[in-house]
Amino acid sequence: KLRVLTGITTTGTPHLGNYVGAIRPAIAASKSSDFDSYFFLADYHALIKCHDPAQVQQSAREIAATWLALGLDTDNTTFYRQSDVPEIPELTWVLTCVAAKGLMNRAHAYKAAVQANEDEQQDPDYGVTMGLFSYPILMAADILAFNAHKVPVGRDQIQHIEMARDIGQRFNHLYGETFTLPEAQIDDNVAVLNGLDGRKMSKSYGNTIPLFLTEKKMQKSINKIKTNLLEPGEPKDPDTSTVFQIWQAFASKDQTAWMRKQFEEGIAWGQAKKELGGLINEELSSARDEYEKLMADPAFVDAELRKGAEKARARAGKLLAKVKKAVGIPPLS
Ligand code: TYM
Repeated sequence: KLRVLTGITTTGTPHLGNYVGAIRPAIAASKSSDFDSYFFLADYHALIKCHDPAQVQQSAREIAATWLALGLDTDNTTFYRQSDVPEIPELTWVLTCVAAKGLMNRAHAYKAAVQANEDEQQDPDYGVTMGLFSYPILMAADILAFNAHKVPVGRDQIQHIEMARDIGQRFNHLYGETFTLPEAQIDDNVAVLNGLDGRKMSKSYGNTIPLFLTEKKMQKSINKIKTNLLEPGEPKDPDTSTVFQIWQAFASKDQTAWMRKQFEEGIAWGQAKKELGGLINEELSSARDEYEKLMADPAFVDAELRKGAEKARARAGKLLAKVKKAVGIPPLS
């Protein structure tokens, strides 16, 4: 069976981009009996960006409830918190000792932080923690600990998966065939969703549309999507429009063709946004009710995560034992 694995960092509230780019395709794949799936909350990754304990904890609760509300079947998948699987940070250290520093120097997130300091004429290391620098190694351990074949992610994560391959390959070369080399799985129909301001929807830009807003608040948020100043009746270009892009992520082929025509015929922005709100509500309203219930029942959610952590540890433990033996640290006799 092919093993599929993906995670979400527990900073902030899950948004439409996470849903379209990661959660929806992952849950769909988990329903097929061809796959063995691993979905987790990357709460150790969260510490890199967020030093607010209350926020890290709240975000983990929201993201866990989101996966469950969207119909994740925890009997057929392994659903856990990264921090409940100590084999992952243990493996991280072993991988840190084979990962080339030069490779890490090229990581986008790290480079962006250094560049930002340069732009502000500050020390290039200002605010750059070792956590940020080694972020891709922890992520490689997440993936390699389960010998995952496929990693469904949005495009922004491709480089990280390539680094995981690189690190796994290097280990295999030094110590013998141990790790499966993972591949990113990017759905060509799934774009990187843009946010309110037209840039990539991202917690760090503060331009997200949270997934489970009430119908009213969701419409309010959609109404804030930036549009150009075309009047009703003026033809609008669907291919440069965030409203259209999000529409496409939720619509059938026929609905997409229909909206394209509306744009060409000059639908008013207010109307297009109303249609979009309706479409999103249709897809998410029953999951939203479920989400509210789960948020009120943390004991249930925790029990699910505990079950997942046990399964995950059993798997990762076996592989870690093999890894330790391979590097010359077998169990004491
Ligand atoms: P994170 O938490 O930033 O994002 C979680 C997932 O959502 C996708 N995504 C988007 N997709 C489409 N449009 C967007 N605007 C958008 N924003 C986010 C991301 O591509 C991702 O798939 N490092 C990872 C978490 C992680 C991980 C892993 C993932 C840790 N270990 C191992 C896979 C395997 C991250 O920060 O994702």
